[in-house]
Amino acid sequence: MAAKWACGHSNTVLSLAVSIDRVVASGAETGELTVWSEEGCPLQKLQLDGGEDVTCVAFSPVCSTRLYVSHGETLSVLDTRTFREPVENFSVNKEEINCISVNETDSLLAAADDSGAVKVLDLESKKVSRTLQRHLNICSAVAFRPHRPQSLVTCGLDMQVMLWNIQKARPLWITDLQQLAQEENDVEDHQSPGQLFNPPLVHSLSVAPCGNIFCCGAEDGKIRVFQVTGTRFEDQLCFKGHIQGVSQVHFLDQELSHSWLISGGNDGRVCLWDIDREMRQQQKQRPSKHHCLKKSGATSFKTKLSVHQTTEAAPRVSSKLTIEHGEKVNWLIGAELQGSRVILVADPTSSISVYELGEL
Ligand SMILES: *[C@@H]1O[C@H](CO)[C@@H](O)[C@H](O)[C@H]1NC(C)=O
Ligand SMILES: *[C@@H]1O[C@H](CO)[C@@H](O)[C@H](O)[C@H]1NC(C)=O
Repeated sequence: MAAKWACGHSNTVLSLAVSIDRVVASGAETGELTVWSEEGCPLQKLQLDGGEDVTCVAFSPVCSTRLYVSHGETLSVLDTRTFREPVENFSVNKEEINCISVNETDSLLAAADDSGAVKVLDLESKKVSRTLQRHLNICSAVAFRPHRPQSLVTCGLDMQVMLWNIQKARPLWITDLQQLAQEENDVEDHQSPGQLFNPPLVHSLSVAPCGNIFCCGAEDGKIRVFQVTGTRFEDQLCFKGHIQGVSQVHFLDQELSHSWLISGGNDGRVCLWDIDREMRQQQKQRPSKHHCLKKSGATSFKTKLSVHQTTEAAPRVSSKLTIEHGEKVNWLIGAELQGSRVILVADPTSSISVYELGEL
């Protein structure tokens, strides 16, 4: 059962973040911004001028009172101690910002927008240090890689995933998920004829704490895991994580011995995956590259369809935990609040749901 954090918003919550001091921030439609204690009490509320949806919130990784917020085409910096108005505003993106990422030393901020561009801001000089322009459609997510200065990954609704070094204006490596999906489907020989696939528009991205592994969630319900080696990356694992689009993927943080990934989908489910374990199994029994693994124990309909697939060499990927949240997931994050490991979920309602994960 979820605990609900209500009374922080009156509109749909769109974005969540947690600070190094376990303070939670949430952004909602029409410019609503709320800061919460780890117990779920609203500490501060603010209505941003302009009334645009707060699409992403991110705390500084070094200063827990510094909060970055994207709303419309604007990026604002707030101080949670004096939470009345932004202390700074940047208008460097030409279209709505979908995702922001701050590098580990809080010196660079990347903002991905609807035009497909990613603006990289130098937070000290307050100037755009790079414009990364290659996505042909909405750039949905951007993430700096931990321990890899200057390196970031992006994905978009153009079905492309890109690795960048911000010193260069061109991507180092690009993977087209539509092409990957075609290869996967060629291998999935027992697919029922005429079955329609949603195109793998990429909605979400998360880099593991090690910096070399990252995951993408796409409209085809699949979660794909990539490994970066030098200036390129390769697909390592792909599995059907959700029966509709995967709106969110997030790696849990470092102290854990495994790479745990949480995902949320338009199917209203929240899942927990042990990515390390699956990658090890996959390497042992990998029948062919690009084979997309089936999630076991999906719906009974699916199980029937895949009866003869049980003889395949491919291992099945099953989630460690599946929560029937019941509402489309707008955002999710893992956090350790009041000594418990929890998942916070934002959905079309105005409250935040909190699920306890227990021991991992
Ligand atoms: C940022 O913009 C808001 C209005 O959106 C304004 O109230 C605030 O004073 C601005 N801050 C700075 C430092 O310009
Ligand atoms: C963050 O960016 C700055 C400026 O480019 C760089 O000097 C620093 O090494 C980066 N930090 C990390 C941890 O990537």
